[in-house]
Amino acid sequence: MAYLLGIDVSTTGAKALLIDGEGKVVASHTTEYPLSTPRPLWSEQNPADWWQGACESIQAALSEAGLSGEAVSAVGLTGQMHGLVMLDKADQVLRPAILWNDQRTGAQCVEITEKVGGLDRLLQLTGNQVLPGFTAPKIVWVRENEPGVYERTTHILLPKDYVRFCLTGEYATEVSDASGMSLLDVAHRRWSKEMLQALDIPEAWLPICTESDQVSGRISASAAQATGLKAGTPVVGGGGDQAAQAVGSGIVKAGVISVTSGTSGVVFAHSEKYAFEPQGRLHAFCHAVPGKWHFMGVMLSAGGSFRWLRDSIGDIEKAAAALSGDDPYNLLTREAALAPVGSEGLLFLPYLTGERTPYPDPEARGAFVGLTLRHTKRHLVRSVLEGVSFGLRDSLELIKGLGVPIEQVRASGGGARSPLWRQIQADVFGAELVLVNVTEGAAYGAALLAGVGGGAYRSVEEAVAATIKVTDRTAPVPENAKKYEALYPIYRSLYPALRDTFHALTD
Ligand code: XUL
Repeated sequence: MAYLLGIDVSTTGAKALLIDGEGKVVASHTTEYPLSTPRPLWSEQNPADWWQGACESIQAALSEAGLSGEAVSAVGLTGQMHGLVMLDKADQVLRPAILWNDQRTGAQCVEITEKVGGLDRLLQLTGNQVLPGFTAPKIVWVRENEPGVYERTTHILLPKDYVRFCLTGEYATEVSDASGMSLLDVAHRRWSKEMLQALDIPEAWLPICTESDQVSGRISASAAQATGLKAGTPVVGGGGDQAAQAVGSGIVKAGVISVTSGTSGVVFAHSEKYAFEPQGRLHAFCHAVPGKWHFMGVMLSAGGSFRWLRDSIGDIEKAAAALSGDDPYNLLTREAALAPVGSEGLLFLPYLTGERTPYPDPEARGAFVGLTLRHTKRHLVRSVLEGVSFGLRDSLELIKGLGVPIEQVRASGGGARSPLWRQIQADVFGAELVLVNVTEGAAYGAALLAGVGGGAYRSVEEAVAATIKVTDRTAPVPENAKKYEALYPIYRSLYPALRDTFHALTD
């Protein structure tokens, strides 16, 4: 039997996931590595750690599955997006990689937007605002602050593509990850000559950019030695972590959307056609499905809001859970279930760490609005679950505004574990919420893309149909959905009303 290998170069570690021809996971291993924050706002990693971690994880996964490298027919890559790796002419890494969550480039974002002629022109060229986490402002930052590094640069790579370079010797990326660099003409799926010219970045520095299911190199003899894989094994494009995660949960046709709620919440929609949100409030990126696109909204504190609540008013639940072996979140959601739909007029704003979609505002703040003497702890918990769901709906509304239908929402991450929270989300979204059998995320999507490029499947859609199944369904309750429909405009009115207050409080 032929096996497929997905490698995820995430912010916390390098994961190697092996699946068999039927999509069953046979082994998974993650090697963690550190992240350094040498100055406020900075976030960096050493690319050598990614490569070392990938080698260890591949070897460990092969050994856990009792397989030799010969058994692996293709490799797919995924990873944290937007990070900047700079190489010199001897292919040496010139400085630590600057990561997606690094915030040092605010000034460069403003400068780039002005240089290309303002936000409207930027949106026409790349479909997206330029954000501090994206790659182009980091390149400009290095030019302005570390000219010695800039002058010696000959190649630029994204994190997973540095590991690809170590595996194959090729400088290559693929369209989904390249979309987050502010250098790709997302509409035409190729580098934007206008952006490169306006920013004076040499095109020769950039890797070749393929569709995500294309073979972009083969395991070299030295990489075979370092990993245990067979020399000559094809390495397929893969995808940025969000696009690969979407493939790994079956988000490959219009109407099917995913909501992933970990600390943050990501709403991801497949789109048959290219479009961009007129104010750039959604990311408009190429999908890892050839010739398709996706829209993405990011809420900064989804599960993070619930964790904050547990840590600030959940001491009793924590103590009770420690005694009974239960989970404090279960005990808190049981209390929330005792409060009625709408928490008797109590609304929660989930902007505890500022917000990204739909309000790109680092100074936005959280709030409970509408407290009365009637409200108790159960209302507070329920309104947090409801407020996060309203915040996620904001992204869904922007997606709907671009003409994408919303028929089914696939939930994953911690926020999908509670049946009550799933019901609230289904009611707030007014759409069916489902769970799927695969919970391995981006690495699984990368393995499926490897299967397409390596010839095990004819298309990404075929790979998904063969492996990903719905395991649980939550339909909206019409009566609840009606109540939330009435509350949603009130929720929507709160941020504009409180914006100046939030800013004054921060100042
Ligand atoms: C996507 C994004 C994150 C990073 C790290 O735009 O910022 O998903 O890729 O996971």
